[in-house]
Amino acid sequence: MDTYQPFPLTLVRGKGCWVWSSNGKRYLDAVAGIATCSLGHSDDGIRRSLTRQLNKLQHVSNLYQIPEQESLARWLVDHSCTDKVFFCNSGAEANEAAIKLARKHGHTNRGIEEPIILAAKGSFHGRTLAAVSATGQPKYHKGFEPMVKGFEFFEFNNLQSLQSLIHKLEENAPHIAAILIEPLQGEGGVKPGEKKFFYGLKELCKDHELMLIFDEVQTGVGRTGNWWGYEKLNIEPDAITLAKGLGGGHAIGALLVKEHANLFKPGDHASTFGGNPFASKAGLTVVSEIERRGILKNVTERGNQLKEGLNKLVSTFPNQLKEARGWGLLQGLVLRNESSFNAQDFCNAAINEKLLVVAAGPKVIRMVPPLNIKANEVSEIIKRLQKTLNLLV
Ligand SMILES: Cc1ncc(COP(=O)(O)O)c(C=O)c1O
Repeated sequence: MDTYQPFPLTLVRGKGCWVWSSNGKRYLDAVAGIATCSLGHSDDGIRRSLTRQLNKLQHVSNLYQIPEQESLARWLVDHSCTDKVFFCNSGAEANEAAIKLARKHGHTNRGIEEPIILAAKGSFHGRTLAAVSATGQPKYHKGFEPMVKGFEFFEFNNLQSLQSLIHKLEENAPHIAAILIEPLQGEGGVKPGEKKFFYGLKELCKDHELMLIFDEVQTGVGRTGNWWGYEKLNIEPDAITLAKGLGGGHAIGALLVKEHANLFKPGDHASTFGGNPFASKAGLTVVSEIERRGILKNVTERGNQLKEGLNKLVSTFPNQLKEARGWGLLQGLVLRNESSFNAQDFCNAAINEKLLVVAAGPKVIRMVPPLNIKANEVSEIIKRLQKTLNLLV
């Protein structure tokens, strides 16, 4: 169906940070499957490990115990602030699970008949009906009304806005179950959360017994230079949703919860494919390889290098570029409102320079390369961005 408008570019092969088109041209990939191919393309570690898994067992269903799933769940709880894991297949699905969990918390722990979940304006939580209803961007709702009810929105990084919404909704009796929020808004324009705001938000959650759910679908699994985006903000959520980078290019999603938020009982939620041996092995290989090769350090160093290069571009093109912002290897180059081209025009032009980048809204060019990108490849991204800018101005 006509759900995508792809670039006129057919990619047929990849290695590391590079991909090749059907006509043999080589592109530097700063999209990485939209923050997904954590270890780049055709990584030897993933290839070997998943080939072995394909030869052993692919899928059996959650009717049986799955050692690969248990090992991945064990790794995730050992390396985060959480205690239990539910596996699914995508970010939207992980958020659907979190929304159901939040409603259960509202019903069982706060005695609310119709629990409300608060989310941020400008957020993105996925395209399934509840996840898109939780998404604070009206353009994604258009044509699909009525949205799922029970979501209210506040301004991201604006404590006053959150406080007044909570006070309005909780004035007479409990009505709110949870806050669902990205630590850094990805699709909404690569906007990092501010510590002061999140500290206040956490206090409000404690005061009102609200479940705090971090959507770390884009920020999780090393993308920011820490394992989890919440580490950048120095607060711990009650639940975390993951997908994208966890599978290194293979479909897997997860909902991680602290023990007190471990509210699902047998029969409450399920997924046929969720956490199958193949997907779990993919996740397990990604996290073990990131650990074994010291890739988090690389993300911080290469992220700093990328940010520095982007800042130089901002000084070189002050009439077109406003700022560079982001964490680790999740960086955005923000266009000025007066710029003669938008982010999509830029992505199209970059293809001529054999560089793949992706828009995050109309004004932000997003770079989310593989986490194991090398210093010379980051320099090459900057060079190709500069050439693209020269083409456009
Ligand atoms: C923060 C966030 N949440 C959820 C999603 C949806 O993930 P998926 O496309 O895997 O359903 C995305 C995808 O871009 C995302 O960035």
